[in-house]
Amino acid sequence: MSLPLLALLPDPPPRQVLGSYPSPVQPLPDLARRIGARSLSVKREDLNGTTFGGNKLRALEWLLPSAGRFIASLGGYGSTWCAALATAAKATGREAHLALFPQPWSDAVAGALATTAAHAEVYLASTPGRLPLAIARAWLAARSAGASTFFGPGGAEPLGILGSVNAALELAQQVEAGELPPPAAIVVPLGSGGTAAGLLLGCQIARLPVTICAVRVSSPWIASERRVRALATRARRLLRRYGLVLPDLHPPLVVIKHHLGPGYGHPTPGARAASALLAREGIAAEFSYTAKSAAALADLAASFPHLCLWHTFDPRLAPPPLVELPRLHRARTYAESLWPLPKST
Ligand SMILES: Cc1ncc(COP(=O)(O)O)c(C=O)c1O
Repeated sequence: MSLPLLALLPDPPPRQVLGSYPSPVQPLPDLARRIGARSLSVKREDLNGTTFGGNKLRALEWLLPSAGRFIASLGGYGSTWCAALATAAKATGREAHLALFPQPWSDAVAGALATTAAHAEVYLASTPGRLPLAIARAWLAARSAGASTFFGPGGAEPLGILGSVNAALELAQQVEAGELPPPAAIVVPLGSGGTAAGLLLGCQIARLPVTICAVRVSSPWIASERRVRALATRARRLLRRYGLVLPDLHPPLVVIKHHLGPGYGHPTPGARAASALLAREGIAAEFSYTAKSAAALADLAASFPHLCLWHTFDPRLAPPPLVELPRLHRARTYAESLWPLPKST
């Protein structure tokens, strides 16, 4: 199926097809009843690709064509952005150099790191304070190898945001086709902000009267309302340059702050409970992203009777690690020295 965004752009930027769309929406009537919502639907972004999916796949489709052969970026040890970037870069003949900072260890982190390390050069920072050095090493290695590009955390760049703009347009089409009731709120994890910014913009373009509830899952210096709005403004400018006329309607954005817990990647009791409930519906939600967003649903149901949960995480990017790579072992040692006795996912 052609992307709804492409139908609106007279002169679109180049795109590397990686996923298959639309991702399905799944109604969860039992869970809706349990949390007191009139309806709850899940946008299954985990199913938007054939070999791997998730929200970052959509961003990479627009980011990769503008990238050099050598790419540097950063993320947590278990970053699915890094796992997705490493996989897509290799599949398209590129080489990724990735600086990784520690986060609490879990099976999901080990799986994502195994995927990242299998497809990219990784530079492990032993503590968060050593991240700048790891970034410098990754960037120098990419630069000295040839034509190089640096992507910020999460790939939150205007071009990449087009992926989530398209996802919102896709959802609007699914609402129109009667696949889900018009949601009063879309509940989405807020990490680097690109996904929430794209949904904000996509709902503006689709004239979908919905509130974007972005659940903070990473540090407030990056996961903030200000940053989401700034990213949306930059992506809006980009779309105008590509010939899109935008309606004068601005969907509300609410940042939900209290589900982060001690920090990025730290499991919280609410995330554990939400993950268990979603598992009963056949949805694998790890503790860094979707489970923390799902933990916010019950509080939102009173104000937003029709809810749509954005499930961004594809467990195929974090399979159980089959090999004990030395780097995996080292990362685990660093993580466990910072956060002793971590609970396994
Ligand atoms: C699986 C997953 N979900 C959600 C997010 C958060 O999205 P964003 O960084 O666009 O805010 C990320 C970020 O890396 C992610 O990997």
